[in-house]
Amino acid sequence: MNAPIPNDLEAYWMGFTPNRAFKKNPRMFVAADGMYYTTHEGKQILDGIAGLWCCNAGHKRPRIVKAIQQQVEEMDYCPAFQTGHPKAFELANRLTSILPDKLNHAFFVNSGSESVETALKIAIAYHRCRGEGHRTRLIGREKGYHGVNFGGMSVGGMPANRKMFGSLVAGVDHLRHTHGIPENRFTKGQPEHGAEFAEDLERLCELHDPSTIAAVIVEPIAASAGVIMPPKGYLERLREITTKHGILLIWDEVITGFGRMGTPFATEYFGIQPDIICSAKAIANGVIPMGAVFVQDHVYDAFMQGPENAIELFHGYTYSANPMACAAALAALDTYQEEGLFTRGAELWPYWEEAVHSLRGLPHVKDIRNMGLIGAVELESIPGQVTKRATDAFLKAYEKGLLIRTTGDIIAFSPPLIIEKSQIDFIFETMRDVLKTVE
Ligand SMILES: Cc1ncc(COP(=O)(O)O)c(C=O)c1O
Repeated sequence: MNAPIPNDLEAYWMGFTPNRAFKKNPRMFVAADGMYYTTHEGKQILDGIAGLWCCNAGHKRPRIVKAIQQQVEEMDYCPAFQTGHPKAFELANRLTSILPDKLNHAFFVNSGSESVETALKIAIAYHRCRGEGHRTRLIGREKGYHGVNFGGMSVGGMPANRKMFGSLVAGVDHLRHTHGIPENRFTKGQPEHGAEFAEDLERLCELHDPSTIAAVIVEPIAASAGVIMPPKGYLERLREITTKHGILLIWDEVITGFGRMGTPFATEYFGIQPDIICSAKAIANGVIPMGAVFVQDHVYDAFMQGPENAIELFHGYTYSANPMACAAALAALDTYQEEGLFTRGAELWPYWEEAVHSLRGLPHVKDIRNMGLIGAVELESIPGQVTKRATDAFLKAYEKGLLIRTTGDIIAFSPPLIIEKSQIDFIFETMRDVLKTVE
């Protein structure tokens, strides 16, 4: 493919990227189809991470492409406040129908970060609506990632994402994380050890008094900090403690939503119902920015009081339920359902698990973990040079035609759910070659 190459890369300030290194040796994608990206040099790169955990049906899916084309012809934009359009309501109905019982209401946003800010604001406002305005504290978890806006950054627990930005939102505390428990190394599925870390919440309740706490937010699987699986019994215990103390439980399912766990959402996989769920990423297959916050009936109902002509929640975005995003999300949902992609992760799980764990024993491999169509390989760090090994592996894999993602010295895999077994083989054969040569 002969794609025009820009001759000056300076103006675009890229996020979460070493700009100077990238601009010396850029990796440019110019096309995408199915499981593959095409680089500006015409090389095919297998997408081992579904874009950024968002293109769950793969790339350039015909239904989605067509839906967007039709929508832009029909209606490009509709004001998000005081007017609506049918696809927004249809989408909310269809999305809530794939969620468990009581999660019957959707608030639309444009990203995972916005879904978290929205969920946190709803949680605090909910208590106020119920006459418990003293519940303002938010509890997150160390190593949590909830996007990059102030609320999400504050409840998040990734030091590099926090340290440059001042004192953040006040009144936030954190549970300890469950990463790195030695007995859990090389676990397939949920690890046995660490449920007792949920008791941290009781400790924080004692410290702050539960009547001051509005919500606890966790990712069921902490992805961005390096794929940390919840120990058996851990999530159940968090649900018990939050219920006992009248604290809202928010699950950030930005990554686990839309089939990643072999079920539509992780709430179904784990059999636990949070009060609020944050979603984004694969909601529109990563094609158009979108997200949604799902709330249980009791949360929504708490707001639907007072005079009927009064606004219940002073919150919303210009692009909430944008028609193009709704059209893309409806077509993504059709694609997921028609192609059985919500359960494909469950079907492929055993094959995937064996493939990921086949890397055990290679140089520097310290731990391997997997659930659904998620896998992670943790490497021993070079003293004083954390991230170097995984970054080398990323660059070497890319040279060999494979896109992976790294955080610290942990390599994550989360391919589109359309992946074939032969492509799973390609990922791990490539990684075997890569890991043999990483120093
Ligand atoms: C769990 C979780 N929450 C929130 C976000 C933020 O999403 P976005 O980058 O769309 O703002 C991410 C992104 O990776 C995520 O993994």
